[in-house]
Amino acid sequence: MPTRSRITGTGMAVPDCIVDNHLLSRCMSTSDEWIVQRTGISERRVSPDTYRMLLRLAAAPDKTAYMRDVKDRGFDGNIDSSLTVSDLAVEASRMALEHAGLTAEALDCIVESSTLPDFAYPATGCVTQGKLGLTSTPVFNLAQGCAGFVYGLSLADQFIRGGMYKRVLVIGAELLSSAFDYTDAGRDMAVLFADGAGAAVLEAHEATGAEPRGLISHHLHSDGSAIDALTGEICGSSTFPPVSKKKIDDGRTRPRMNGRAVFVHAVRRVREVVQECLDANGLPADDIDLFIFHQANLRIVESMAQSFKISEPRMHNNIQRYGNTAAASVPICLHEAVMGGRMKEGDLVMLVAFGTGFSWGATLIRW
Ligand code: COA
Repeated sequence: MPTRSRITGTGMAVPDCIVDNHLLSRCMSTSDEWIVQRTGISERRVSPDTYRMLLRLAAAPDKTAYMRDVKDRGFDGNIDSSLTVSDLAVEASRMALEHAGLTAEALDCIVESSTLPDFAYPATGCVTQGKLGLTSTPVFNLAQGCAGFVYGLSLADQFIRGGMYKRVLVIGAELLSSAFDYTDAGRDMAVLFADGAGAAVLEAHEATGAEPRGLISHHLHSDGSAIDALTGEICGSSTFPPVSKKKIDDGRTRPRMNGRAVFVHAVRRVREVVQECLDANGLPADDIDLFIFHQANLRIVESMAQSFKISEPRMHNNIQRYGNTAAASVPICLHEAVMGGRMKEGDLVMLVAFGTGFSWGATLIRW
């Protein structure tokens, strides 16, 4: 009997601090109406540091001067974060392990993806592993942006099918809010992205029956010719030295995005990869019981719903409450769908993601 991987536990973590569109509109020239109409987002979760900074920024008479001061001196003269991306990854992982009925020690491997890590090195997966109390479990670190969790699932699935590992934890975790400029200069990205983490435990099982449960197929792609459309130089080696006052003054430590170009690519690539996944499995879109799309923009998801005639009950969206949490968005949706009883045994579930790189992909699962 062939070995298949099944998701036996899911988890999520988001910071307690909620930022609604009204608070953002006190920091930059935007409005609740603009954000809801263009993106579908009403509120998002951010780290306590970002939240406290936003409250100060909202009250500051000169927003640009206040943001410059934060960059020059740190927030209140302090540059240590009170919550890091690995903290969120650990919380989501513990929940996923608890749901799977496992301890961290039972894991054979961890696959982690984050866009903005705790440190340039070591990678966040290693930091997370250490915080889970592990000292020799292998860790794979991905930096696949919003597609990170879907990429991670494919890797974990191959390890399990190939017999190398039996229990793999896959994590998508992000703490992006700390890098944005919440004044007019950064408003295009600052309203979209937010913080959070999601995780899933995959376990080996022997496939039985004509339609065995578990991960069925993965369809992955990247296009490195479009890196300028969505980039965060931050502390990368594209500049010498990686961080300098000049880099900060020139605004190159701030993420950059060509929103329209990303939108067009996302709609095209997501549509293509959904079709590819359906074709590879000989399925019409109607046969998919639940679609979980990366939560980048509700308009992108609505466009897919229109193309593939997906009714509301056959999707799970939460961008209204969490914004775009990049690699965390698909596993957070997955966890909510599990907890909300959205899938029953035997259902077909398709996970789809698109992000910086560009990298995108789809995974089909029989639940
Ligand atoms: N509030 C108010 N106005 C804003 C704004 C904000 N937060 N951000 C940008 N604008 C302005 C722009 O400056 C522009 O002004 P102009 O016409 O005077 O130049 C205007 O709004 C319209 O901008 P445009 O880029 O045409 O809007 P849009 O309809 O394309 O929506 C995005 C902008 C960013 C919401 C949209 O392009 C998008 O969602 N793109 C994909 C982003 C994404 O998914 N990224 C992550 C991928 S994983």
